[in-house]
Amino acid sequence: MTVIAIDGPAASGKSTVGRMLAEALDYLFLDTGFMYRAVTLAALWQGIDVMDETAVTTLAHTLDIDIQPAGTATDGRHYTALLNGQDVTWDLRTPAVDANVSQVSQYLGVRQEMVARQRAFGQRGHVVMVGRDIGTVVMTDAPLKLFITASPAERARRRWRDRQAQGHTTDYDAILADVVRRDGLDSGREHSPLRPAAGAVVLDTTGRPPEVIVAEILAQFSVVDDLLA
Ligand code: DC
Repeated sequence: MTVIAIDGPAASGKSTVGRMLAEALDYLFLDTGFMYRAVTLAALWQGIDVMDETAVTTLAHTLDIDIQPAGTATDGRHYTALLNGQDVTWDLRTPAVDANVSQVSQYLGVRQEMVARQRAFGQRGHVVMVGRDIGTVVMTDAPLKLFITASPAERARRRWRDRQAQGHTTDYDAILADVVRRDGLDSGREHSPLRPAAGAVVLDTTGRPPEVIVAEILAQFSVVDDLLA
């Protein structure tokens, strides 16, 4: 079992890079943020107050959360996310989920449940796993750990472009403020705060296309792969 652990802040390019890397290496790809988003969406849909830690934690344990290949879908998705069997791929990306997911992902009970599910996924074999705590908590034995970052302004620009492409009209300044707010929540939280794992390779994607970053990682990987062989 080889897992490549990728962590980094919101919209740093880590998912794009992780996906391309998985493709290049013929690895499975798991973007763990979708799980915290699914819990958040379920709470919103069921009218559960996201500030109610006990209720949200109980909910998290009951949910069937799954991910499948995009298959024949032609709407630009990279995978299909299922919540209790329902396709929620795009529902997970709405501003309402964005606004509440940092709160939900702070809860220890929610995290423990999601981490257990992520570790089970890691057992499937060769996986590129992306998140905030993959190198520090979920897959501490990963032979290659990466921390992918970019400036807040660059990350806000990417989020803004994604939103436009999805047909949402959102103010750039509001997005930048939200990126900075979420950085604070993700890095300052008590449980599993966002930070580079010991030994992680830190890559800054500001102004650099994902192809360049992936080439750099593949060079790092070949060193690790030689050590594993
Ligand atoms: O990567 P993303 O934007 O889809 O992540 C959504 C939220 O989930 C974000 O607030 C951080 C949190 N998250 C986390 O705490 N741990 C992870 N492994 C992945 C995401």
